Amino acid sequence: MKSPWWHDAVVYQIYPRSFADSNNDGEGDFVGITARLEHVATLGVDAVWFSPFYKSPNRDGGYDVSNPREVDPRFGTLDDFSQMMNRADELGLKVIVDLVPNHFSDQHQWFQAALAAAPNSAERRRFHFYDGRGESGELPPNNWESVFGGPSWTRINEPDGRPGQWYLHLFDSSQPDLNWDNPEVNADFEKTIKFWLDLGVAGFRIDVAHGLAKEQIYQDHPDPVALTAALRLDVTDIDPEYRKQLLTDIPFFDRDGVHQIYRGWRKLIDTYPGDRFFVAEAWVYPTSRAVRYVRPDELHQIFNFDFLTIEWDAAKIKSAVEHVTTEFANVTAPPTWVLDNHDSPRVVSRLGGGEVGLQKARALAMVTQALPGNLYIYQGEELGLEDVPVAAPDRQDPIFFRTNGQQLGRDGVRVPLPWQGDAPPFGFSASKSWLPQPASWRELTVAAQNEKADSTLNLYRKLLRLRRSHPALGGLTEINWIESEPGILRFERNPGFELVANTTSTSYKFTTPKQVLVSSSPIEITGEEITLPSNSTVWLSSLD
Ligand code: NOJ
Repeated sequence: MKSPWWHDAVVYQIYPRSFADSNNDGEGDFVGITARLEHVATLGVDAVWFSPFYKSPNRDGGYDVSNPREVDPRFGTLDDFSQMMNRADELGLKVIVDLVPNHFSDQHQWFQAALAAAPNSAERRRFHFYDGRGESGELPPNNWESVFGGPSWTRINEPDGRPGQWYLHLFDSSQPDLNWDNPEVNADFEKTIKFWLDLGVAGFRIDVAHGLAKEQIYQDHPDPVALTAALRLDVTDIDPEYRKQLLTDIPFFDRDGVHQIYRGWRKLIDTYPGDRFFVAEAWVYPTSRAVRYVRPDELHQIFNFDFLTIEWDAAKIKSAVEHVTTEFANVTAPPTWVLDNHDSPRVVSRLGGGEVGLQKARALAMVTQALPGNLYIYQGEELGLEDVPVAAPDRQDPIFFRTNGQQLGRDGVRVPLPWQGDAPPFGFSASKSWLPQPASWRELTVAAQNEKADSTLNLYRKLLRLRRSHPALGGLTEINWIESEPGILRFERNPGFELVANTTSTSYKFTTPKQVLVSSSPIEITGEEITLPSNSTVWLSSLD
């Protein structure tokens, strides 16, 4: 039987607010996206995933949804969305949309109704409203911290004006958590899932997929501040063993109750024609727990985020790849690979920035794209963009505000794309961009990179083309590791493909009868001898 397309798909993530602006208000929209969608198609990907574009007060980049079945006017209309779908279809691209089931916006009509209703009412039972502790309920029900910093409980005033119950929000206070023990919640989400499936989407990325079930609400966590730190990728000053211990048992993440929700959704999506799928955003430790989300009767994919923090180090890359491929094979689900997304530092910056950061990022992208399974590419990754230092008055991320500026947050990776021209907003808009772009992006616009044979954009295009055309790539065939010197990563995939990556700081010479397909930086070839510069990867093939 032919495997479904999403077993080895390449999915391009569009952050709609920052892709292309058609009405010159400085924010991206669907008409702008439709006009620029060809860029995504010519890159050679299979699908596009849209971060949320639903009705939202936009307190958390649209992940605070006030109506999940409506397009927010900043992005246009449902008709604009449908036109984009038509264009995607013409270009051979499938469309995946975001589903945000852990929380709604506090502006959603359900939450507004809950505020107006009495404690323990049907309206309140859609969320996690609890009485506070202490003599007059002045203390929150427990000591959990929000993932964005600060307490995860906010006290409301009851309709009579007196301080009353507390509600849970694992993220911003404008994002009240939904109560998944209440069947009304699932019924509403099934309605949303059907709504978008009926419009032709090929699948969903599920936000905070590990968070829906909560337990032990009236129990304090022994170390809530350390737990929040342990959940953050960028916090490194925490003992690794303690971190593992904290991540192993979290009262609000990865509780067994979530799996039954996904079994139901799987049945629902299976009633639709075509190979449609769910991918889970679930930060679950260890991997053996994470892969439970993609057991055969649950979701189809789960993001593997190991490469968001992987060092440019042959031994570490090899061990991460071996670990991930083994764990996923145990549940017969395809692995996924992610170098960049709208929540994490851009890979070029993470690997040191500048020329060297770019060199390493290109070399790492070549390793990633040669692996079996699914690949997710975040807009701008194909241009080799770096994080942008955003000035304090321009910052919008709730992480910045909830930590009093101690953590800068994610705005720097959400700056609008540079398309063409010599000055900001580089064709993103005819007027301005909601976050300022740096002048240095002049060299990195799509138009500028089109003209340069060795640009990152052209490298990505070449790699994705080869990934489709070379019989060993794509698919789920095994990786055969080749023993080599320290700092050198080398593997084969059948038939006839070989990858050599040099993570050391000196060049590496080797001989091979194979032909060079592509390399991340210029290499020297003398007969059968290849000199691979430091921080570089080469793809080789023995096929004609
Ligand atoms: C994960 C999303 O990717 C992120 O952007 C968002 O802030 C949180 N979930 C909360 O929805």
